[in-house]
Amino acid sequence: MTKARSIFVCQNCGAITNRWQGRCDSCQEWNCIVEEVTESSGPSRSKRGRLLALEDLSAESESAARIATGFSEFDRVLGSGFVRGSVTLLGGEPGIGKSTLLIQVCAALARQGRRVIYISGEEALAQVRLRARRLGLMDAPVELACITEVEDIIATCAAGAPAALIVIDSIQTMQSQTADSPPGSVVQVRASAQALLRFAKKSGSSLVLVGHVTKDGQVAGPRVVEHMVDAVMSFEGDASHHFRLLRASKNRFGATGEIGVFEMTGLGLVEVANPSALFLSGRDAAAPGAAVLAGMEGQRPMLIEIQALVAPSAPGTPRRAVVGFDQSRLAMILAVLEAHGGVKLSLHDVYLNVAGGMRADEPAADLAAAAALVSSLLGVPLPAERVYFGEIALSGAIRPVIHTDARLKEAGKLGFREAALARAQQMGDNSRSAGVAACEIPNVAKLIEMV
Ligand code: TYD
Ligand code: MG
Repeated sequence: MTKARSIFVCQNCGAITNRWQGRCDSCQEWNCIVEEVTESSGPSRSKRGRLLALEDLSAESESAARIATGFSEFDRVLGSGFVRGSVTLLGGEPGIGKSTLLIQVCAALARQGRRVIYISGEEALAQVRLRARRLGLMDAPVELACITEVEDIIATCAAGAPAALIVIDSIQTMQSQTADSPPGSVVQVRASAQALLRFAKKSGSSLVLVGHVTKDGQVAGPRVVEHMVDAVMSFEGDASHHFRLLRASKNRFGATGEIGVFEMTGLGLVEVANPSALFLSGRDAAAPGAAVLAGMEGQRPMLIEIQALVAPSAPGTPRRAVVGFDQSRLAMILAVLEAHGGVKLSLHDVYLNVAGGMRADEPAADLAAAAALVSSLLGVPLPAERVYFGEIALSGAIRPVIHTDARLKEAGKLGFREAALARAQQMGDNSRSAGVAACEIPNVAKLIEMV
C-alpha cells in the first residue's frame, strides 16, 4: 500500500521538515525549502534475518575480487578497481570531462569481454557515438541506451547477464515513478539513486553515478547521495589547463586522498604517469619568486611550483591574492615572516599562485611559500635544484612534516639535488639513496638569511 505525503526539502542541503519555513534550520540558507510529494509505503512487516559470523563473510568477499579497468590512474583512485556491487558517485563541473572519462573506462572494460552498459540521460545516442568515434572506441562492445526513467533502466539492465559496470550519466537527469517532483530535485535524485543502488547491490553490478557540481564544489542537490554511495570521486581541473585530477573524498573500499592524473587531449583523456614532470614543465627556474614544493597528494608525492609576486602597493590597503593556496595560511606566513624575520610587507601587494591550477593545501607548503615570497621581495632567484617542504609554526620555527622519504625520492627522480627541510635527521637511509642533500632550515630567520 502506498500513500502520497508532502514533505518540505531544503534544496541546498537536503534537510527535511514537516512544514514550510523561510530558512533552513540545518544549513541556514534562505528561500531554499520546497514542497515535494513523495509516496511512502505503508507500515512494513518485519522479517527475521539470518546472522552470520564475520569469518563466514570474508570468504565471500574474497571471491568478490575487484575488476580492474586497466586505466591505472583510475584504478588507483578506486583502490585497484571496481568492487562488485559497489556504487560510486563521480562529481565534477559541467564540461570537465566526466562523460569522456567514463566512456573510456567503459570501453576498456568491454574490451576485456565484460558486459558494460552506459545510460545517457543527457546526450542523444548519436552524440555519445560521435564522441566514441572521435576517441577511436567504436570497436568496444559497450551497450548504450538513452533512458531517464529509473524503473526502465532497471528493467533494461536486468534483462540478460548481469553487467560488470553500469554508468548513469547523470543522476540529475533521472526520475523515478515513486517520486513526483521534477528531475534534479532532491527528492527525485534521492529516489532514483536509491532504486539504482538497490539494483546494483542485488545484481552485483558496479554502478557509477555522474553528478554535476556547483561552483562551490558541492554535488548539486544530491549531497544526500554522498551518504548513500560507497565512494565519492571528484573530477577536477582548470578548464584552461589540460590536466585533470581524479580525487576520492570517500571510499569504503580504498584509501581516500588518492589522486589520479589525466591529461585532456584531442584523443580523450590520457593517463599521466609522471605528474611532477608535467607540473614542472615550462618552469623558469632563473626567475625570482618561484619555489618547488615537494608535496603530497594523498599517498603520492608530487612536485609543484609555488610562485609569489611581492610588489610595492598603491596607498591604502595592500592586496593579498591567492590562487590554489589558503588565504589565511598566507596571512599567517606573512605575519610570521614579519614578526620573526623582520620582513615588512605591509606596504606591498602579495600574490601567491600554485602553478598549473594545482592546490597546495597541506601545511608542508608553508616553507615553499615563504621561500617564494622572500625570493620575490629580494629579487633573488632560489637555487634551481632545491625543493622545499616544512610547516611554519607561529614561533617562527620550521616543523618537520610526514612522508619525508617519499618526498625526497620524488625530488631525486626529477633531478633535484637539495631539499630544504626542518631537520636533517628526518632523512632515513631510504632518502639518502635518492641522492638529495639536506639543507637544514630550523626557523624563518635562517630561511631569509639563506635567500
Ligand atoms: P565531457 O566529457 O562532455 O564533459 P562532462 O561530461 O564532464 O560535462 O567533456 C567535454 C569537454 O572535453 C569538451 O569541452 C571537449 C573536451 N574534449 C577534448 O578536449 N577531447 C576529447 O577527445 C573529448 C571527447 C572532449
Ligand atoms: Mg557529460
